[in-house]
Amino acid sequence: MRISEALQSLTAYLRRHGIERPETDAEWLLSFVLHCKRLELFLMPERVLTAEQTERLRALSVRRARREPLQYVVGEVDFFGQKLHVDQRVLIPRPETEELVYQMQQYLTENFFKEPSGFPDISYEERQNLAILDLGTGSGAIAIALAALFPNIKLTAVDCSAETLAVAEENSVKNNVRARIALVQSDWFSNVEGTFDVIISNPPYVSEEEYRSLQPEVRCFEPKSALTAGDEGLADLKYILSKAPEYLKRGGLLVMETGCTQHTALHAYAKTLGYVKVQSTLDLSHRERYFWAWV
Ligand SMILES: C[S@@+](CC[C@H](N)C(=O)[O-])C[C@H]1O[C@@H](n2cnc3c(N)ncnc32)[C@H](O)[C@@H]1O
Repeated sequence: MRISEALQSLTAYLRRHGIERPETDAEWLLSFVLHCKRLELFLMPERVLTAEQTERLRALSVRRARREPLQYVVGEVDFFGQKLHVDQRVLIPRPETEELVYQMQQYLTENFFKEPSGFPDISYEERQNLAILDLGTGSGAIAIALAALFPNIKLTAVDCSAETLAVAEENSVKNNVRARIALVQSDWFSNVEGTFDVIISNPPYVSEEEYRSLQPEVRCFEPKSALTAGDEGLADLKYILSKAPEYLKRGGLLVMETGCTQHTALHAYAKTLGYVKVQSTLDLSHRERYFWAWV
């Protein structure tokens, strides 16, 4: 079979199975099997697939047609310039979380890595050695991206699941930042030691009702425990908000990714906890998605 024929029949097959963007997924699958870029498929439409490549493409297409997410099928995702392995042990990192990393990059650069800094009483060297805690690290996405962006910061990445942490470890090795990230199995703060300049987290925040309306790709394949929380999705966000002050240095910051309807409740709750300042920021669709709180 030629590349052009493979693309055509695979697109039609995925469309019949209700895949939202069948053309794009067909291109991703074929370029994955042929180890080439998507664009290259259109530069060599006459190239003929080997029997082995055809069989491999068939096997992967069947998985995708059963609504397994494309990222699990190919086993990889690009997150803020880092290549991460993903499978059913971890949540697939989302573009909204890349936006959280982008906003954190801006905040750290502005306050710690530029002169004059937001913390003039702390020396430049000390500021560069920031300690950052990533709570609920999953694939390691946030911690690995921050470690790659800021070569002097020290990271601690926590997850409650040992099998999830194994993926984070694999990804930190693959991206050459393993030595700079301490991986800790912990139920939120239970095994965390020390204090931090920044705590960053994308905890589970989806309510049971919202969960039931999610795509089959999410409900049938991604770990439910990484997505849902009690109290209409607020339980973990509130727990982290209540405990974080014990683990933050003076002037330290907690920032969490949230659902877009949760900020009124989070502002009200934060008021009872003695934070000196709180703030909501927006995602690229202009929805309140990130909650910032300083001690
Ligand atoms: C929404 S996922 C985020 C994963 C990753 N940080 C990302 O942004 O792609 C939430 C993560 O929190 C972890 N988690 C859930 N409950 C936890 C708990 N009690 N203590 C620590 N981690 C927990 C889950 O295993 C999951 O990896």
